[in-house]
Amino acid sequence: MAYSGLNTVLSLMKERVDLSQVVRRDVALQKKGREFVGHCPFHNEKTGSFFVNDEKGTFYCFGCGASGDIIEYLTRKNGIQFMQAVEILSEISGIKLPEKVQYSNDSIHKQQNILLKIMEFFKNALPMNNDAVEYCKKRDLVQEIIDRFSIGYAPKDNTSLINYLKEATFSHDDILNSGVFLEKDGKLICRFRDRIMFPVFNKKGEPIAFGGRGIQKDAMPKYINSPETAIFQKRETLYGYSVAFKNISKSNPFILVEGYMDVVMMSKYGFNTAVASMGTAFSQQHLAKLWQYSDEPIVCLDGDFAGYNAMVKVAILALSYLQPGKSLRFCQIPGNDDPDSFLKSHPKTEMERLLSKSENLIDFLWGHFARNFAEMPNKTPENIAKWKKEIFAYIDEIQNSDIKALYKQDIKGRIFALFGKGNKTDSHFNEYKKSLLVQVDKKEKMLLREAVLLYILISRPSVIPVVVEELASIEFSDKDFEHLRHSLLENPYSQDFGNVGDIVSRIKQLAGEFVSFNGMQDSDVMELWENVFELGVARKRVADDLKVAKSECVASLDDITWNRFKALKLGFIRNENREK
Ligand code: UTP
Ligand code: MN
Repeated sequence: MAYSGLNTVLSLMKERVDLSQVVRRDVALQKKGREFVGHCPFHNEKTGSFFVNDEKGTFYCFGCGASGDIIEYLTRKNGIQFMQAVEILSEISGIKLPEKVQYSNDSIHKQQNILLKIMEFFKNALPMNNDAVEYCKKRDLVQEIIDRFSIGYAPKDNTSLINYLKEATFSHDDILNSGVFLEKDGKLICRFRDRIMFPVFNKKGEPIAFGGRGIQKDAMPKYINSPETAIFQKRETLYGYSVAFKNISKSNPFILVEGYMDVVMMSKYGFNTAVASMGTAFSQQHLAKLWQYSDEPIVCLDGDFAGYNAMVKVAILALSYLQPGKSLRFCQIPGNDDPDSFLKSHPKTEMERLLSKSENLIDFLWGHFARNFAEMPNKTPENIAKWKKEIFAYIDEIQNSDIKALYKQDIKGRIFALFGKGNKTDSHFNEYKKSLLVQVDKKEKMLLREAVLLYILISRPSVIPVVVEELASIEFSDKDFEHLRHSLLENPYSQDFGNVGDIVSRIKQLAGEFVSFNGMQDSDVMELWENVFELGVARKRVADDLKVAKSECVASLDDITWNRFKALKLGFIRNENREK
């Protein structure tokens, strides 16, 4: 063969790329049990009889009998040669072709075999050690769970493990390549000693790595994981995946938890779709693995502050990759519990309840932003603006334009609602409201301000007599608004504004999105009126007055004309600055 080690790379590629992902480019597939079904790409048919099995990496058509693996699929579908299909697969998987491959076919097989052997050894060692058995009892690791997850024990002294492997004819290098051992002065030392061992499986259920929990109280570090090897990439591996993905259904999405113990205990109590990213940061590849089978996986990390922060990180990472229908939900465990300790101290139904009331991504993120706002010690316009800028920077990460626009709209509404609550103790609240009104599109700005002014008056008619002078001094740019202004002026003490229902609903629609007066005191409403009035609506009038005053000055410059001009000009400048 021209390429040495081609089979090795091929099996790596097949492990990384799901056949269904590739078939999906040609025909639509639907999940049916453990398989995907669709219309056969190799013959014409009205009903779908083409099945794809990602676990086995194979396809089969009950109609025409076509069958094979991913290479067979690519060659048949595209009418290409074997090597061309391999090249395509190399591109999709991101795995380079042999000249750069460091692992030979042999060593991959050896590595998988030795890991199986080591797993068997650890499994057999568990019941032989009293401390390990006691520890499992203490942690509620019952036999059924030990078997389900192939949990084992790495003894303090590992000469017996090394001998066991040598007897099975594994060489020094084979043992080293397993990732389970370190080499010191030419001698092999097991990384895991006196630890409960959790094998980590690939999607096919083959062991590719281990995590070990120290059983002594002061074990340092608490957990040790295998290093990355040819067959174990942390960014791509989720503990529990090989079991969980088989149990996925619409009502049973993936549940992302933090640790080995969380996955295992969730499974014990019937939550058999839990997976964990094992101490590494949750990655885009992890997310893709979840979304492959679940539209809305639930993120349920530890209830402590670190867990909460990690959930926020997951939420922010997901923003970039959101697609129509694909999202996440967030479940916050109360107090400082993790799923493991929560299940031990609460009935199972409590966990069910928590999961069922998990939050949407947008609600969870907004909760985080609102919390940041509440905790902001000094709510100056500058700090508030910074807070807002951060929020919109996150939203800008969303790649899907439709979802991005919808997020923007939704979050804007929430920001306005937050300030509309009229928190009397927050002296900057009007300041902020003002700045929001400044930020609307220039073209719509005037109309919006006019609508807000009228909205204030129709929601709080008691304010009308107080501002009647100001109301008389301006002119609205909108014809309907002018009509309403006149009827308000005609009868400022009446709460009946005549036949203006359409105009009122238009105002409510325009302004209601930006302000709400619920729970606001009259004095606050007045302040808002003054801000908006001065800021924009009166400005046009001031500009006009300024023109007149200027020509008066030019005609005859005296104290009266000068002071009038100066006062108007200063007011004008103040307003201009506020606009910026
Ligand atoms: P936790 O410290 O929350 O572990 O770390 P846990 O699962 O609750 O463990 P118990 O209940 O104390 O036994 C969560 C995960 O982070 C990784 C492990 O994957 C662990 O399950 N971790 C933690 C490490 O890799 N190394 C460590 O030292 C600690
Ligand atoms: Mn934990």
